[in-house]
Amino acid sequence: MQETNHIYPIFDKMMTRQDKESLLHQKGVMVWFTGLSGSGKSTIAIALERELHKRGFLCRILDGDNIRSGINNNLGFTEADRVENIRRIAEVGKLFVDTGIITLAAFISPNNEIREMAASIIGKDDFLEIYVSTPITECERRDVKGLYAKARKGEIKNFTGVSAPFEAPSHPALSLDTSVLSVEESVNKLLDIILPKISK
Ligand code: ADX
Repeated sequence: MQETNHIYPIFDKMMTRQDKESLLHQKGVMVWFTGLSGSGKSTIAIALERELHKRGFLCRILDGDNIRSGINNNLGFTEADRVENIRRIAEVGKLFVDTGIITLAAFISPNNEIREMAASIIGKDDFLEIYVSTPITECERRDVKGLYAKARKGEIKNFTGVSAPFEAPSHPALSLDTSVLSVEESVNKLLDIILPKISK
């Protein structure tokens, strides 16, 4: 028989998501940014976090800088590695969402199957898919990290948009083309849909 704590039975239970959301005066959600390298996913996530923070909301950004360099530093860019990359991010993201935190994930996540896996791990009701739809011509023109040039020369294999596929989401909650919209305009569109979901 399982041993229970008869004196302090309440100690047997972890505090719930609802307890944590009450403490934080907010509701947890996953805002999932998908799009090509250099499309502006992280830039928008960072600007959005700043605006939400100003309004009193606690956020956590997950992106290549803190995930691919750490927990996922053993993964590359084969299809199997990308699936494992996104699976771990979704599992970690779920822990943040279950803590009541507004979680902003910025990853290429190049196809519907990968994004559906993330949504089903996190839970569809907590998953907001945002497509940063900046065209490849613009991403390549920016080439912030010089990776498109290398990919064109064949120095990087399986590069998304050049030598590996990117499948646009069919029904994103929002599409943001940063070749047309300013960062501020993108953030304002995001705030319109996110604030009602996270406010208690
Ligand atoms: S994902 O496809 O697994 O979702 P993720 O968003 O984590 O990709 O990482 C993409 C970033 O890794 C790019 O912005 C780029 O800086 C870098 N990168 C390095 N090699 C590749 C590659 N072959 N394809 C795409 N991005 C790459």
